[in-house]
Amino acid sequence: MATEVPRPRHRWFAATYDVMGRAGEKQMAPLRRRLLHDLHGDVLEVGCGTGASFEYYDWDYIETLEATEPDPFMARRAREKIASLDEDARARVRLTEAPAEALPFEDGRFDAVVSCLVLCTVSDLQRSLGEMRRVLKQGGELRLLEHVAGDGARRMVQGAVQPVYGWFGAGCQLTRRTEEAVREAGFELEVWERMRFTPLHPGFLGVARKAASP
Ligand SMILES: C[S@@+](CC[C@H](N)C(=O)[O-])C[C@H]1O[C@@H](n2cnc3c(N)ncnc32)[C@H](O)[C@@H]1O
Repeated sequence: MATEVPRPRHRWFAATYDVMGRAGEKQMAPLRRRLLHDLHGDVLEVGCGTGASFEYYDWDYIETLEATEPDPFMARRAREKIASLDEDARARVRLTEAPAEALPFEDGRFDAVVSCLVLCTVSDLQRSLGEMRRVLKQGGELRLLEHVAGDGARRMVQGAVQPVYGWFGAGCQLTRRTEEAVREAGFELEVWERMRFTPLHPGFLGVARKAASP
């Protein structure tokens, strides 16, 4: 039987997320746009947080957007964002409070799955990626914008600050080898762009497709 997934509850992180996000919007807006460009059909956004990406979807091409978010404080804000979308878009979005490790959707349901700054925080990285793979159609796309472990001295500093950083960052992990984990989960990963969100947050933007066999 699958083990129970801890449910995050971070009231203050949720309360400050959009305010902090506005400071980084100049960097994040084009990245979110690129992450979501050309998406169409049935899309799942995992760990949607406060719904910061909703405004960047091209709603002319999205048939349905299932958004998931396990933290009730983040989910409450995401619901407010959904309520502020225009009526036509709003009717196509549904939010479910669920973790990436146990997605409540049938196999092969989605044309695309989106993970934006989420794989750093999930409690079980491989299980989450396995679920994303399971709910994707063959030929579907896992779009990823994630920060990852650095190399050498950067990796050492990330490890040193992690205990304090993780507490303030609602469990966010600086030292995950996410690209490797994506490939190990049975995806072929195409990196479109590498960036540094901050000196401690090297990251990548790209797409992963199900490899022929895991
Ligand atoms: C840094 S925030 C990113 C939020 C949003 N994706 C964005 O682009 O702004 C990380 C999010 O992952 C969520 N999260 C934490 N554990 C999770 C899990 N096990 N499954 C899915 N999401 C999770 C957090 O609640 C939080 O909303």
